[in-house]
Amino acid sequence: MNHSSNSPTVYIPRDTTALSLGADKVASQLHSQQPDINIVRNGSRGLFWLEPMIEVTTPLGRVAYGPVQPEDVASLLANDFLQGDSSHPLYLGLTEEIPYLAQQQRVTFARVGITNPVSLADYRAYGGLVGLQKALTLTPQTIVDEVKTSGLRGRGGAAFPTGIKWQTVLNAPSNKKYIVCNADEGDSGTFADRMLMEGDPYCLIEGMIIAGLAVGADQGYIYLREEYPVAHQILNEAIATAESENILGDNVLGSGKAFNLQVRLGAGAYICGEETSLLESLEGKRGMVRAKPPLPAIVGLFGQPTIVNNVISLASVPDIMANGAEQYQEFGTGRSRGTLPFQLAGNIKQGGLVELAFGATLKTLLEDFGGGTRSGKPMRTVQIGGPLGAYLPEHLWDTPLDYEAFLAIGAGVGHGGIVAFDNSVNLSQQARFSMEFCTIESCGKCTPCRIGSTRGVEVIDRITNNEQREENLELLEELCDTMVHGSLCAMGGMTPIPVTSALKHFPEDFSPAEGANSSSQQQGAEHA
Ligand SMILES: Cc1cc2nc3c(=O)[nH]c(=O)nc-3n(C[C@H](O)[C@H](O)[C@H](O)COP(=O)(O)O)c2cc1C
Ligand code: SF4
Repeated sequence: MNHSSNSPTVYIPRDTTALSLGADKVASQLHSQQPDINIVRNGSRGLFWLEPMIEVTTPLGRVAYGPVQPEDVASLLANDFLQGDSSHPLYLGLTEEIPYLAQQQRVTFARVGITNPVSLADYRAYGGLVGLQKALTLTPQTIVDEVKTSGLRGRGGAAFPTGIKWQTVLNAPSNKKYIVCNADEGDSGTFADRMLMEGDPYCLIEGMIIAGLAVGADQGYIYLREEYPVAHQILNEAIATAESENILGDNVLGSGKAFNLQVRLGAGAYICGEETSLLESLEGKRGMVRAKPPLPAIVGLFGQPTIVNNVISLASVPDIMANGAEQYQEFGTGRSRGTLPFQLAGNIKQGGLVELAFGATLKTLLEDFGGGTRSGKPMRTVQIGGPLGAYLPEHLWDTPLDYEAFLAIGAGVGHGGIVAFDNSVNLSQQARFSMEFCTIESCGKCTPCRIGSTRGVEVIDRITNNEQREENLELLEELCDTMVHGSLCAMGGMTPIPVTSALKHFPEDFSPAEGANSSSQQQGAEHA
């Protein structure tokens, strides 16, 4: 569509959340009623309860309206929304001033929702490729040192220092190395990887090229879950453009260095997010965990040294290179440096993505951003860090979000997914759900996880049915201990965390009266 530069510009997100709520219909309705409007399909700003949230450019800045349904288009036009008129009931004011957005510290998500995700011109206009250009002037060791100085730790869950992992791959002698992006995003309540890929795919691509330059790898793969078709489409569009502009390919920005990138789809098993299982799957085999050592950094994809990093870890690197490690590590607290995109999900009024420096509290996220429960009932617990994360009671919501502080309370920050539950939740059923989840998702390689989780479900059932209660409580404790210490990977090793946290903080839900009467319908934290 050709529009004059005087045509008003309206932004309508094309990310999965907005699409699922009717964004395409809103766009076609607007186009049919006023064909001269310049419609830009951007990513989501992450204010999901307001999606589809559309924005119009005005001399004062971008003005937002939402949630917009196709039938609202006529009244928006009648109310002169193209001039940013405030009289429409869906008027939200200047986007940047909406408190949910204004109170964030957006570093990795700085461009998400602002730009057209597949426009390279937009990417450059908003600071893209500066980090890559800088990296092309540096030695591999200097790039790795910069990542080390930033304090960046893996955002996929284990929080391993990214610079140390890169150093291991750099030091590994081989003339073929790989960069693998873990975009399996299997944790409950998480969508940051998807939002980044759908809203700013070049940022991930740039981070992966920098990783390639840092360790001497010329081939990258994005291992993407099949359930993300929109991300797949947007990544492929961006990769094709990056290739045609010599950002990817045999001559990265004219440097003579090569980096090629492909997307590979996973079929949706939770265990394929575990890095060694992921590598097996990428090699075309069944996703079974490999014993470590050797680490993937030394013997990884097709037996070669391989960086396996999460989407957000890799997407954090362009900013670190462009603006310097020091400014990145000024965000955060203790040994948790930088920012994390927290994802508010479950029974929450204002679900969405909130990027903040480490050190904020769950209370701030749940109350100031989340606005309490969606049901209006009191919030009782939150599960943080995915389906194998702890259930935390209210008195722990003041704990600063920092890897070490969470470890100290028997929990983990993980990928930053926070799932809220109101007081209708039954924690014995949630504990049972964790064990059952493990029976379904276990790769089956080792006994404590494969058999332990099956027995775990049975033991919890006996406890809630008041059968030899004390003996079975003791048995459950022993079983959890065996799973923690005997499992080959963190799938079996972490499954006891939701179970023991539920037992510790909500013992009343395991009492005969509560347990026997409880409904098994409360398994709200479904595997996303
Ligand atoms: C059962 C299981 C599932 C996992 N799922 C994911 C996932 O979906 N995405 C991810 O980035 N990391 C996941 N991980 C962590 C990866 O094994 C690995 O630590 C991570 O990809 C390393 O990247 P990072 O250092 O950038 O975090 C999972 C780990 C386990 C044990
Ligand atoms: S702990 Fe579970 S998922 Fe991990 S290797 Fe053992 S059986 Fe497989």
